[in-house]
Amino acid sequence: MSHRPHSSMFNRNRFKLGLFSPNCSGGMAATTVPERWDASWDNNLALARMAEAGGIEFLLPIARWTGYGGETDFQGQSLETITWCAGLLAATTRITVFATAHTAFTHPLVAAKQFATIDAIGGGRFGLNIVCGWNQPEYDMFGLDLPEEHDARYRYGQCWWDLIRRAWDADEPFDWQDEFFTVRHAVCSPKPYGRTLPPLMNAGSSEQGRDFAARNCDALFTVMVDLASGAETVRQWQAIAAERYQRALEVFTTTYVVCRPTRREAEDYHHYYAVERADLAAADRLMTLMGMHAHSFPREQIEALRTNFAAGHGVYPLVGDPDDVAAGLAAIADAGFGGATVAFVNYLDELPYFLAEVVPRLEARGLRLPAGAA
Ligand SMILES: Cc1cc2nc3c(=O)[nH]c(=O)nc-3n(C[C@H](O)[C@H](O)[C@H](O)COP(=O)(O)O)c2cc1C
Repeated sequence: MSHRPHSSMFNRNRFKLGLFSPNCSGGMAATTVPERWDASWDNNLALARMAEAGGIEFLLPIARWTGYGGETDFQGQSLETITWCAGLLAATTRITVFATAHTAFTHPLVAAKQFATIDAIGGGRFGLNIVCGWNQPEYDMFGLDLPEEHDARYRYGQCWWDLIRRAWDADEPFDWQDEFFTVRHAVCSPKPYGRTLPPLMNAGSSEQGRDFAARNCDALFTVMVDLASGAETVRQWQAIAAERYQRALEVFTTTYVVCRPTRREAEDYHHYYAVERADLAAADRLMTLMGMHAHSFPREQIEALRTNFAAGHGVYPLVGDPDDVAAGLAAIADAGFGGATVAFVNYLDELPYFLAEVVPRLEARGLRLPAGAA
């Protein structure tokens, strides 16, 4: 199956922009401030239309089945990503909308048909983010064992994806057996839009996760700790994709943004929502589940990490005036990343300022074309 050149994920913008996690309550911020993100359908619909009008390339949801507790039950309410994607594709015309699929929780033949269906709804604007699982309470919720052997999750993910590909390629009923799946007389109709593959990404940090992206995906999505190590990750994994799999790989990262007219205002607001009004119980639980136990790090480092997790789920911060935020994104582009997601405490309140002030600065730096020209 060929790729689809018309997708906004392959447009002429050197640096792509996406919005991450608007389907989850709180978005990326574990905070108690009253303006924290309400992930209602109406808010998501309005945001999708605003992002599309502003030339943002894609929307990326988090697949989350149970929240992180705390005062706000951070991410406790989340719109299921495949149905969310279907609704937003029906309501938009240009933007790419990703669904994030947990390999362990959906049979690949069900997923193959769901994806082909939403791809038809979106006229080829559906994108797929494959995640292979990490969160123990979610496995408990489904009565499944989280494979203790980390590699087994990615072996499972590979079989899951290979079976979907087979179902999309097959014109006749087929039988299939691998380490995890046995199917008989399987069919999948419709096929994805124009019998082309949707843009595919995988979010992984481990060697196996990144190898999965290099082998199968258009983009590896990865958390960046600092610019130097980020640049090294891009260089390394693009080389591995080329050598091991003869494939081109984009690498994307994820950020949270606090942008205000002055740096001082941005830093004050950051302190307000992520320190004074942090939902620390939720941030702590998230860190514990991710294996960042307090006893694993020095105390000062844990305090800094907590603020970062309360502020933006532990991802890379961009806090400052429009020049600062644009410079931060440009530095990420210079490190070799093909794009980044942004997230805000309140997406609908804050995206207009970002579109009005930061995006034109990226255009002036040659990283993006004006909306509609890409
Ligand atoms: C940008 C990004 C998005 C992710 N989205 C999800 C998600 O929606 N649901 C989920 O359970 N895990 C998600 N993850 C976690 C990854 O799938 C992965 O499990 C994690 O990064 C650990 O990497 P590893 O599996 O390679 O060890 C995401 C990670 C990143 C960096």
